[in-house]
Amino acid sequence: MSASNRKIFVTNALPYANGDIHLGHLVGYIQADIWVRFQRMCGNEVHYVCADDTHGAPVMLRAEKEGLAPEVFIERVRVEHMRDFADFGVAFDNYHSTHSEENRAYAEDIYRRLRAAGMIETRAIEQFYDPVKQMFLADRYIKGECPKCAAKDQYGDSCEVCGAAYAPTELRNPYSAVSGATPELRSSEHYFFRLSDPRAVEFLREWTRATNADGSRRMPPEASNKMREWLGEAGENRLSDWDISRDAPYFGFEIPDAPGKYFYVWLDAPIGYLASFKHYADRVGLDVGDFIDPARAAASGTEMVHFIGKDILYFHALFWPAMLQFAGLRTPNFLNVNGFLTVDGAKMSKSRGTFITARSYLEQKLNPEWLRYYFAAKLNSNIEDLDLSLDDFVAKVNSDLVGKFVNIASRCAGFISKRFEGRLAASDAAALAPFGDAATLAQLTRAFNDRDYSLALREIMRLADVANVYVNDEKPWELAKDPAQHERLHRACSTALNQFRALAILLKPVLPQLAAQVEAFFGVAPFAWRDLAAPLPAGHAINPYAHLMTRVERKQIDALIEANRETLSSDSRSASGTAPASAAPATPAAAEAPAEAASPISIDDFGKVDLRIAKIVAAEHVEGAAKLIKLQLDIGEARPRQVFAGIKSAYDPALLVGRLTVMVANLAPRKMKFGLSEGMVLAASDDTGEVPGLFILSPDTGATPGMRVK
Ligand code: MSP
Ligand code: ZN
Repeated sequence: MSASNRKIFVTNALPYANGDIHLGHLVGYIQADIWVRFQRMCGNEVHYVCADDTHGAPVMLRAEKEGLAPEVFIERVRVEHMRDFADFGVAFDNYHSTHSEENRAYAEDIYRRLRAAGMIETRAIEQFYDPVKQMFLADRYIKGECPKCAAKDQYGDSCEVCGAAYAPTELRNPYSAVSGATPELRSSEHYFFRLSDPRAVEFLREWTRATNADGSRRMPPEASNKMREWLGEAGENRLSDWDISRDAPYFGFEIPDAPGKYFYVWLDAPIGYLASFKHYADRVGLDVGDFIDPARAAASGTEMVHFIGKDILYFHALFWPAMLQFAGLRTPNFLNVNGFLTVDGAKMSKSRGTFITARSYLEQKLNPEWLRYYFAAKLNSNIEDLDLSLDDFVAKVNSDLVGKFVNIASRCAGFISKRFEGRLAASDAAALAPFGDAATLAQLTRAFNDRDYSLALREIMRLADVANVYVNDEKPWELAKDPAQHERLHRACSTALNQFRALAILLKPVLPQLAAQVEAFFGVAPFAWRDLAAPLPAGHAINPYAHLMTRVERKQIDALIEANRETLSSDSRSASGTAPASAAPATPAAAEAPAEAASPISIDDFGKVDLRIAKIVAAEHVEGAAKLIKLQLDIGEARPRQVFAGIKSAYDPALLVGRLTVMVANLAPRKMKFGLSEGMVLAASDDTGEVPGLFILSPDTGATPGMRVK
């Protein structure tokens, strides 16, 4: 490897350890993986790492509800995430965890250095405290009535009804979404990173404005514009100090010399990049110092590049560089920022089935490289959102990959094997010229390097058109009928296969699996970018052609959507087997009998239904049930009722506990696969599917468990 080769440390955002990887996540991971593969094909040294982001209250509460120690829970999720990424060809050199010794050591060290630099300050703040759960509550765990429009059940930071933003202390009748208890204001000492310090503001202003030593940008223009907005004009100071501590109980790292205080998850999350890198570097004998010590990094010319989504720019463009700078570490060379994925023009939605998990895509036997290709065809270097249009996906994969690319080989390979003992002839230089054209290759190289994959793929498909025109003009299938054209046939098929080979090299960053099959077909070493310089020579022996890629059918996509759709009616089907709908427990009534709702009943008929105020005293996921939550409902009886409710798509069990709702108390108990269900919870839903979601009922304040509803 020559001295001029780049040495790049590349990271992807660390996914939270409390959820599945979905197609939205994959945009950024596939984007980074393509870049890494391209750099490696060019002979550059790349170290590509990731990890799970494991700390914080949501992971803690989720593990608790599943009855697992957080360490056990996060390890299970980490294994799932690693499998998902590997199956989509996202090939990290290391996949670590922020709950690791490396991360603890770095977090403590960076914190100590920031403290020594005078960048840490403590201050008492007033915050809501849940007296039942005995914990301070983040804004997202406080609900109440909007101070502006009085809408109920709004979150602690903003109202979904009128859009008002406010402090959680402004909510009327606030309650804890964790236990249902009324929160109390309590004071507690917090640790702050002094982002408002003039030194930090000055540094960030300079950092945003400047470029790297080689003149390259540090982030896309839209991102630097955002930063300028956050920073304000010179002389202005718009930044506030950053609260980096949380009080016990918290799943995370305790702050040195501060018993009972923990680092806020976002403090140690990006440090997890360094921790994963260290864990890997120690294993392979790499010196971390060359990549994170500023002087050594400058001397050895190493780069650090982060791929992130647009929602986490603030953390990566302000906090992270400032933390690194004042801890005496190197700052990033580049932040690549991806936009958000929409499906058929809309936000991903569970009720529409477009909240598609990575695992479900694989389980439906869809080829991961179809998605890599589609994303690449739509990705460029800006922050725009990206739409997965399902019809377009089918059309593009079939016409580009199968119709234009794979087809070249499938029309020519057989002749070489059958008529020419698997050996190539010399190719037609003129027909290969466009594939070795210096300007074209320079443009393609630049496009991949600049992450303008859509431009690269358009150019590659233009070359595929050139190859198809060549094959159509030569018509090997007709040449084959004429013994006098034996040599022409040999040359035409050899030329077309060399065109195909060039396309496979160019597509390899996007389609590594397919490229590996093509390498095996040609019997060659793994493709590198420099292989574009020359075709395979006369006499080169190829292997028998095996079909490379199938077409995608629209019905496969429909099945995928169906598999991801979370609706009420499918809940009741899966929950109650063959039972008549009207007797099915655990199924909200509204969705169950829309037709009956229209025909009148007598008050006596209505009186037969025993509706009660119920307090949800426990709620948990049901192992093996995609839609159900198991509830324990207190209706003033000696022991709570157990009810299975098909509301998993809409509610986090952790957030249900402590709530009051309404149940049907005199339904005949029903034996289900998962246990006995002793009633039914009422919930509203829109039968037309227009309004997604499910809404369980809440009584007005003052109602108590067991009260009759009539
Ligand atoms: N844990 C933080 C990142 C910490 S990095 C030190 C986090 N995790 S996440 O799981 O919510 O998201 C992981 C990555 O996926 C982020 O880059 C995020 O922007 C990206 N995306 C999550 N949903 C997405 C879409 N719907 N579309 C595109 N990217 C998305 O944020
Ligand atoms: Zn409001």
